Amino acid sequence: MSAASESSVDLQWVPTASAIALEAGARLREFFAQGVETEYKGDVDLVTVADRTAEKLIRERLAVAFPEHGVYGEEGTRERMAGEFRWYVDPLDGTTNFAHGFPHFCVSLGLEQRPPNTVSDRDGTLVAAVIYDPMRNELFTAERGRGARLNGKPIHVSSIPVLAESLIATGFPSRKRHDSPNVHFYQEFTLRSHGVRRAGSAALDLAYVACGRLEAFWEFNLNPWDTAAGILLVEEAGGLVTDFAGHPFQLNSHETLATNALIHDELLGFFRDLFAGRNLSPIPTPHEFAQRRAERAARLLS
Ligand code: IPD
Ligand code: CA
Ligand code: CA
Repeated sequence: MSAASESSVDLQWVPTASAIALEAGARLREFFAQGVETEYKGDVDLVTVADRTAEKLIRERLAVAFPEHGVYGEEGTRERMAGEFRWYVDPLDGTTNFAHGFPHFCVSLGLEQRPPNTVSDRDGTLVAAVIYDPMRNELFTAERGRGARLNGKPIHVSSIPVLAESLIATGFPSRKRHDSPNVHFYQEFTLRSHGVRRAGSAALDLAYVACGRLEAFWEFNLNPWDTAAGILLVEEAGGLVTDFAGHPFQLNSHETLATNALIHDELLGFFRDLFAGRNLSPIPTPHEFAQRRAERAARLLS
């Protein structure tokens, strides 16, 4: 990926997107306080008036601030998609949390630059990122080549060098849930680390890798609006992001492995093993567990 050129225009990307994310986040806080009705986009894929209102606000503000820029939003926005710049917008990442009153969600805005001759299915360069957690008032920002920040202070990935001492995170899809093998990875990584969190916002998971609260995050089948901002944050904070085979991350690759860089190879090794069916840790099935429990109870009675 080539570095974006420095100009007074690109210096406006993060401050302007931050102001927009703060405004959208304030609206989300209001909706959260009053409570909203939940609708279904799919099986358990939820959406609320808060998602749609925040996306509309972000789309309108971006159009005024950067009239040439494209916008690609989760709730359907597809504007000026042929241009050099494109914002990937997740107006509310963590909708399931939001809908249940679980206060962990964010606004995510990631800017990609696609120079004129970029082949259409190839990624451009991620150049700016803003993730805002309105419940903790935490604003994560990054610009390509200029580092990553949390509320204005520089952040860095953690220095923990082994999975066995790591806290890591994952997520599960809300569509085609039966097609996902992730619960097997969840089990194996739980047994090999300090623990695996499933907090329900991929963008915040990535921001947490960037600021060293987590050593790694992986997920199958995320979309560009979930990842664009978080990927740049992790990279600018000194971390590494690839697919599960170690190839460079692509926004449409549907495989996201983000780490503090130090445990990346170790995790890739586990992905290789697990995909090959090697090194699985046996755990009792619920039926086996119930049988042992019944045997214990019988022994106590005899
Ligand atoms: C979801 C969250 C969740 C992840 C899902 C995403 P949404 O986004 O990021 O953590 O596990 O795969 O779809 O629907 O809340 O914007
Ligand atoms: Ca999302
Ligand atoms: Ca969303």
